[in-house]
Amino acid sequence: MSRITHEPPDRQLLTLEVNGEAHEVLVESRRTLVDVLRHDLGLTGTHVGCEHGICGACTVLIDGAPARACLTFAAQAEGSAVETVESLDGGGAPGRRLSDLQQAFTEHHALQCGFCTPGFLMLAEGHLAEQPAPSREEIREVVAANLCRCTGYQTIVDAIEDCAGRRRAATSEEGPCN
Ligand code: FES
Ligand code: FES
Repeated sequence: MSRITHEPPDRQLLTLEVNGEAHEVLVESRRTLVDVLRHDLGLTGTHVGCEHGICGACTVLIDGAPARACLTFAAQAEGSAVETVESLDGGGAPGRRLSDLQQAFTEHHALQCGFCTPGFLMLAEGHLAEQPAPSREEIREVVAANLCRCTGYQTIVDAIEDCAGRRRAATSEEGPCN
């Protein structure tokens, strides 16, 4: 006679900050960060494409660095600050507008179906925070990490390059004392 027993799921109370808001979530050890974001916290702006680290649709920032949320166990984000695409425009809250990067994507027609767009936006934000003056070649290398089946990439590169230039211009206008 075979006897199959199941251990109760291994759960832990996860504490993390998402888009500036503190959360405590009871999660199974195997649960991915993207599932916690989408299903537990209702932040469905982070998309799930391949679910195995190839497409980058699930890209979020963890402590400022781009990460594949489908390949990250939620438990690995314990104590971290996570930023999702909802952080860029306040999740569509009244009175909030598109961020400058989102606006650049719109102006340069850097999206068609838009499925990949949250991942590209967060990938670009992570890179621009580290390198505010990227060359076009650098931007091309960065966006090569994610897959888009619609735009052909040129307009995505255009949008990121334009946004980076506008941010630098705004910073130099403000001057070093501001
Ligand atoms: S869904 Fe995470 S890389 Fe594709
Ligand atoms: S805009 Fe459709 S996949 Fe990128």
